[in-house]
Amino acid sequence: MANRRLAPAAEQPQDFAFTPENADWARGQIAKYPEGRQASAVIPLLWKAQEQNGGWLPQKAIEAVADELGMPHIRVLEVATFYTMFALEPVGRFWIQVCGTVPCDCCGAKELKASLHERLGPSGKVTADGNFSWLEVECLGACCNAPMVQINQDYYEDLTPESLNKLMDDLAAGRPVKVGSQIGRVSSEPKDAVNTLTDESLFDGSRVGAWRKRFEQTEGADQGGESVKKDEAASTEARVKDETKPARPSAGRANESNAVDAPAERASAGQTPVKPEDEAQARDAKAAPSQDPAVVEDKVLRTEPPQHPATVGAGDDVPEGENPEARADAAGTRPKGLDTPRDDRPDDLTKIKGIGPINQRRLNDLGVWHYDQVAAWSPPEVAWVSAYLAFPGRIDRENWVGQASDLAGSRG
Ligand code: FES
Repeated sequence: MANRRLAPAAEQPQDFAFTPENADWARGQIAKYPEGRQASAVIPLLWKAQEQNGGWLPQKAIEAVADELGMPHIRVLEVATFYTMFALEPVGRFWIQVCGTVPCDCCGAKELKASLHERLGPSGKVTADGNFSWLEVECLGACCNAPMVQINQDYYEDLTPESLNKLMDDLAAGRPVKVGSQIGRVSSEPKDAVNTLTDESLFDGSRVGAWRKRFEQTEGADQGGESVKKDEAASTEARVKDETKPARPSAGRANESNAVDAPAERASAGQTPVKPEDEAQARDAKAAPSQDPAVVEDKVLRTEPPQHPATVGAGDDVPEGENPEARADAAGTRPKGLDTPRDDRPDDLTKIKGIGPINQRRLNDLGVWHYDQVAAWSPPEVAWVSAYLAFPGRIDRENWVGQASDLAGSRG
C-alpha cells in the first residue's frame, strides 16, 4: 500500500475554487441531505474537485470542500487520504491503480507491479511524457478476475505483464482498448468448467421462495409478531397432521394432505428426495391456507402480487374457494396418471424448466411421475394441468412438453 501524503508544496496550487457550474452542482448535492447532515456530501464534492483539478486533489481543494460543508479541514483530509480513489499528487493522463490485495497478489499482481516499475519508474511519479503514473491500492472488488488494474474510470482484468504492457501501448497511441477481462471472460464467469453452483434448485425459484417467505415472516414479526406466531403454529400443526397420514400418494387425488413430506417417507415411496429448504417452502405454503402452493411458486417466479387460483386464467369462471380440480375440469381433459412411479423410480421433473419442487409434488399427486407422461400431454391435457396449477399459458410458453420429450429421449 502506497503512502498517502499530500503533494510537495512546490506542486500545490495557491488556491482552489469551484467553477460556477461546479459550485451549482455542489449545492445540488448538498441539498440532498437533511439539515445538519451536509457532511454526507463530502465524497461527491471531493470527487468533483479532483475532476476539476485535472485528476488530483490539492490541499486547497480539500480545504475548500471542508469550508463548503462546514467541516474541520482535518476531517476532510482524513477522508481524502483514506480513499485511494482520491489522488493526492499529480497523475498521468492514464492513472493506473494496481490492486495488490491477496487474491490479486496470488494471481500475479507482483509481476504486474514489477512490470510497471520497470516501465514507468516508482509509483506516484508521472512519466516524462505525462502519459502514465501508477499506484498500488487495496482490493477494487474485481477479485474474481484477478489480477486487475483500474485505469482512470475503467477496470482491466485477467492481466499478465504482457497484456498490461500492450494495453498501455494502445492507450498511449490512442488505439481502442477492451475494458474488463483481457482473456474474454464475460463478467466473472469461470475460466473453464463449471464446478460450483451446480444445484439446479438455486435457479428454479424454490430457494428464493423459501427465503422470501422467511423474510415476509420476519417483516411480520417486526410489525407485531402475531402473524408469525400464527404461521408457525399453523405450520407445525399441518406438518404433524401430514406426517401421521399414509405416505402413499394417490393418482386420483391431488391435494396437499396426500403429499409425502418426511424425507424418509419420500424415499420409501420412491419419490425424489427433497432438500430441507424445499421442505421449509412446502411447509410454509401449507401454513398459508388461503394461497394455493402453485400460486406461491408462481408468485416467486413472476414476482407479482399473490393471486388466488380462482382469480387467474382458465379458472376465471370458478368461484373462489372451489377445488382446483373443478377449475381444471372446466378447462380441459385430465391426463391419465399412474398409481405409483414405474419401477419405483420417478423422474426428476424439476429438470423441466418451470417446474419446482412444489409443483413436482403436485404433479406426482396427479400420478405424473415421468418425462414421457408430460411429453405425451395433448393440448386439452395441457389446458387441464395449466388450470389446475393456476399457470395459465405457462406450460406452453416454457414448452414443458418439448422439454420433457427431450429429457425422455436423452435418457434413452
Ligand atoms: S483482490 Fe484485487 S480486486 Fe480484490
